[in-house]
Amino acid sequence: MGLWQNGVMPDQTTRVPEFLYGTAWKEDKTPALIELAIRMGFRGIDTANQRRHYYEAGVGQALAVVYGAGLVSRADLFLQTKFTSQDGQDHRLPYDPAAPLSVQVAQSMASSLEHLGTDYGDSYVMHGPASGYGWTRADAEVWEAMIKERDAGRTRLLGVSNVSLRHLEQMTAAHSEGPAFVQNRCYARLGWDRDVRSFCKERNIVYQGFSLLTANIEVLRHPLIGGLAQQANATPAQVVFAYARLVGMLPLTGTSNAEHMKEDLASLELALSPEAVRAIESLAG
Ligand SMILES: NC(=O)c1ccc[n+]([C@@H]2O[C@H](COP(=O)([O-])OP(=O)(O)OC[C@H]3O[C@@H](n4cnc5c(N)ncnc54)[C@H](OP(=O)(O)O)[C@@H]3O)[C@@H](O)[C@H]2O)c1
Repeated sequence: MGLWQNGVMPDQTTRVPEFLYGTAWKEDKTPALIELAIRMGFRGIDTANQRRHYYEAGVGQALAVVYGAGLVSRADLFLQTKFTSQDGQDHRLPYDPAAPLSVQVAQSMASSLEHLGTDYGDSYVMHGPASGYGWTRADAEVWEAMIKERDAGRTRLLGVSNVSLRHLEQMTAAHSEGPAFVQNRCYARLGWDRDVRSFCKERNIVYQGFSLLTANIEVLRHPLIGGLAQQANATPAQVVFAYARLVGMLPLTGTSNAEHMKEDLASLELALSPEAVRAIESLAG
């Protein structure tokens, strides 16, 4: 088990880490926490050009510090950011709201690259479709603009977030190209997003799971998880992250705590038996 996944991504070059460090809700602590996360060993960073929840320029400040200290270079990192449409933003928009969506995508991307001090991202994710019910024309316009950004070399890979199976089916039917990543909130009570995960598995899409702890408080307290944690001399959080990895997810953590950063990365070494994985899989939902 290493820090990087073994699979080859569609662009044949990008290496994907086994854990992503999420940068949401950190405000002015963003630079210090991202620097700490990289010092602790995280190599994958998830952010968004959505000032309401993320301070992307603060992520860039941390990157400048770790590069300057000689800790890592740009090539050692996997940087993922997102395009967030207007309904997910506050007044601090990274684009002209009157411009067509395709122009908004290009403007948001240019602003992200400036924030992050780089000329390319590793992954560019559509933060969420316009409607909860299906893939709309607006989504199609954004996705095609994202493909153009990728073709121009400003990101290596593309993804979508907050999607249902229906979104994914309609999206892949409507476009010549689907996502390399799906990033979803992962609820145990929905079978840990089983339908979306199996769609992803069939198509070699990497499923990124967030809120694995915060959406599943009841699981963390469940005797099955407690027992497995005790047996492995681990914490319930580590068992959940190990389970996520073993069923093929790429987990995210947004911890602000140095000890938890260490524990979350150490979960990469935690083995669970196939029976334990099956039991967790069917714990709820
Ligand atoms: N695409 C989207 O729409 C979307 C939405 C939400 C989030 N995200 C991404 O996902 C990232 C992670 O968000 P999240 O919702 O999964 O997590 P989060 O909100 O950052 O919260 C993680 C929680 O788990 C706790 N925790 C972490 N490791 C722990 C451990 N080993 N033991 C005990 N508690 C632990 C943290 O507490 P401590 O800080 O005290 O450790 C924190 O309360 C975000 O930063 C963002 O990048 C994306």
